[in-house]
Amino acid sequence: MEVVLLPTPEDCGRVVADAVAGSVSAALNRGGPVVLGLATGSSPLLAYRELLRRHREEGLAFDGVEAFLLDEYVGLPAGHPESYRHVIRRELTDALGLDPALVHGPDGAAADPLHAARAYEAQLSAAGPVAVQVLGIGANGHLGFNEPGSSLASRTRVKTLTEQTRLDNARFFGGDVAAVPRHVITQGLGTILGAEHLVLVATGHAKAAAVAAGVEGPVTASCPGSVLQLHPHVTVVVDEAAGSRLVRADYYRNVLGHKLAAQGW
Ligand code: F6R
Repeated sequence: MEVVLLPTPEDCGRVVADAVAGSVSAALNRGGPVVLGLATGSSPLLAYRELLRRHREEGLAFDGVEAFLLDEYVGLPAGHPESYRHVIRRELTDALGLDPALVHGPDGAAADPLHAARAYEAQLSAAGPVAVQVLGIGANGHLGFNEPGSSLASRTRVKTLTEQTRLDNARFFGGDVAAVPRHVITQGLGTILGAEHLVLVATGHAKAAAVAAGVEGPVTASCPGSVLQLHPHVTVVVDEAAGSRLVRADYYRNVLGHKLAAQGW
């Protein structure tokens, strides 16, 4: 696991964009289909803006890239402004020029969400592997919407959100926690581990405990983010606030400056 500790959220956005662009470009150069795994929420937004800038100003290519979301609320009608499929088109994929037919997410509006979850897992495994998966982490350590207690081997399924996560996400629903759905369809932790490269970004003090537990604590279902320790290729990018409880902070601050060019991402 490579942990990169940087001064500001803007620095994190640039480095996450470097890591994502590096993995996508390498996959495009190998030929064949490229699958990009996307998180929603606020953590990756600066990185997404930086990727868009590079696409517009520097010609960073995403031709033919297919995108898969981590998760989706159950019960929001298709086209709801906070449905994750809608959010990711608004924040990233439309402006990157990705064909909406190639931007996939679980069908949270399906009459049978359990079936929709299994269908999404099958669709992802037929298209995959995901070349690079962008991740955020919840204040309680959730990854995707795998809340604490989720099996480290879980596959895509319906989960119930904790009240903390519903409160945290009420900001996207005009502050109305009652409007935040109780259920979601999320890739499982085992599903997420199937990606070739995992890139997690976290900023702000509210994430400090979850980052410390995920990166330096024991591997445990009580902190789903700790499952990253089982994957061979992980980049964790945090700002000083999110990294403020990391014991090895001094080491992580030096990672980027001393990276060998050949190491890449
Ligand atoms: C979103 C997702 C979640 C978020 C997490 C952090 O697709 O899977 O795990 O990454 O809830 O959310 P933010 O970034 O809004 O703090």
